[in-house]
Amino acid sequence: MPRTPIVGGNWKMNTDLAQAGTLAAEVRHRLGSQRGCDVVVFPPFPFLRPVTERLDGCRVEVGAQDVATEAKGAFTGAVAGAMIASCGASWVLIGHSERRSVFGDSDAVVAKKLSAALAVGLKPVLCVGESRSEREAGQTFAVVRRQLESALAGLATDTLRALVIAYEPVWAIGTGLVATPAQAQEVHAFVRGTVADLLGRAFADAVRLQYGGSVKADNAAGLWAQPDIDGFLVGGASLEAEGFAAIVRARRAD
Ligand code: 13P
Repeated sequence: MPRTPIVGGNWKMNTDLAQAGTLAAEVRHRLGSQRGCDVVVFPPFPFLRPVTERLDGCRVEVGAQDVATEAKGAFTGAVAGAMIASCGASWVLIGHSERRSVFGDSDAVVAKKLSAALAVGLKPVLCVGESRSEREAGQTFAVVRRQLESALAGLATDTLRALVIAYEPVWAIGTGLVATPAQAQEVHAFVRGTVADLLGRAFADAVRLQYGGSVKADNAAGLWAQPDIDGFLVGGASLEAEGFAAIVRARRAD
């Protein structure tokens, strides 16, 4: 079974209410009837509902950028999975590198957030990736393996059917330094092999893997061509609808 490509736009902490609505409408105009590639946008929490309303009835889906480890209660400032789902969003980013490095989310916290997302039926995009110093020290595979193991070990594959894994090398995020297609493919093949060790070969063959880190319309085609790259998680370039749509279109339909 061929894997359906999937491209996400992570808006991070950008846009205000009006801009989020406009961007959603522009994405809908360009990608709302897109077939052959799933498209998801990840607006900031306050704009989840207005963005899902703008995208209602079209093929672009909506996700949140993070989720609380707990289901409800006295956790000021946190946003529970059920709240996200009640806004009409269906996806959530888990363990984005900015959550790990800026907010201190540990592997254990990331694993809890994945469980919290699965418990309410949100589709998770689990993010992994090494820092520049880890790559320079030759630790890329060890870091990625540790992040995958701690999040996925012991989970049943039937709860993970919607799982997407995003490989985002921290040194390539927001830096303009994109991994070469060969560098990205090497780690993607490693991710798929590790998933096969943890969850079985059939699951690994079906799971979709995204690359993230300075993806733009003009560097997407070479990455799309790699056998283990099933799409992208796009940051900066997703804030401009035409550039974002061009990344989706850069895939050579097979
Ligand atoms: P950039 O595309 O801005 O490098 O961000 C990548 C990213 O972190 C997406 O989640």
